[in-house]
Amino acid sequence: MIKLLPDVDTGIDDALALIFLSEAHKQGQLEILGCTAVGGNVEVEQTVRNTIKIWEMTGVDIPVASGAERPLLYPLNTSPFVHGDDGLGNTFLPPPKISPSDVTATDMIMRLSHQFPGKLTLLTTAPLTNLAVALLQDPSLAGRICEAVCMGGGVFTGNVSAVAEANIANDPEAARIVFRSGIDITMIGLDVTHQVFWEENDLKALVGIGNERADFLLQIIRYISGAYEKLSGWRRCVLHDPLAAAVCLYPDLVKTEKCHVDVELSGELTRGMTVVDRRGRTPLGEENIKVALEVDAERFKIMLMDSLLGWAQGG
Ligand code: BDR
Ligand code: CA
Repeated sequence: MIKLLPDVDTGIDDALALIFLSEAHKQGQLEILGCTAVGGNVEVEQTVRNTIKIWEMTGVDIPVASGAERPLLYPLNTSPFVHGDDGLGNTFLPPPKISPSDVTATDMIMRLSHQFPGKLTLLTTAPLTNLAVALLQDPSLAGRICEAVCMGGGVFTGNVSAVAEANIANDPEAARIVFRSGIDITMIGLDVTHQVFWEENDLKALVGIGNERADFLLQIIRYISGAYEKLSGWRRCVLHDPLAAAVCLYPDLVKTEKCHVDVELSGELTRGMTVVDRRGRTPLGEENIKVALEVDAERFKIMLMDSLLGWAQGG
């Protein structure tokens, strides 16, 4: 069974991913061994609180370790406009009862990698600072990780700039360390995540439930849909992080191509861009990353909605 360690910056789409994962965990499809959080969509105190709160709401007992407050070199850019001041669509949930783990995110990654060498799957849905710090501390960590599924980057598009995606752009130095580490990485970038979204029409089954859990889901989904509408003129909830979570369980949801990928650190217009070499020869370096280029969007959307409905109906 997959032994999973998610690294998150919860965040609305992170929250949907966590609920999906908790349902899979309860059904014995995977085992979530712990969870680390990092500053990203909101400050780290809040991403930790949100992460613990979501696990609490889903009834799974997963220790959450607090990680980096800010990127390796530069200040953090949070996204309250997209995720709300509380990171969860201004739902302002009561604080969780459980406290964060007393180990740091780096320690949690390290300890689990020693406890389960070659067996640990990392899922990152956030800036890669925590993993980069762990790799800087001990580069041999890479050899103990089975694989990492990373939501971030893009081949043909960006979101925070024309060419850069938020998780990578928030800490490009960290992303470069991780991408160059030798870990077997699947990059779930905007090329595939922009193909998986819900519009209001897709939410009918949730609307029909009419309980507290369904209302919470609708509130956060509608909040982020409103933000996307203001930004792009298209009202929809893009399911970035849930897709990466689902790929951990069902890798055949996406088609990948192994490419040389590196992260631009210094371009005046391109900092944070994932530079993907698809020329079929590799003058830039070895093919190091499996880049997702196609996704079975319908299968994924049904799978995710079924999972969320399952959780909501149990409330
Ligand atoms: C990524 O950035 C964050 O805002 C989301 O949670 C997701 O992980 C999408 O670019
Ligand atoms: Ca995220």
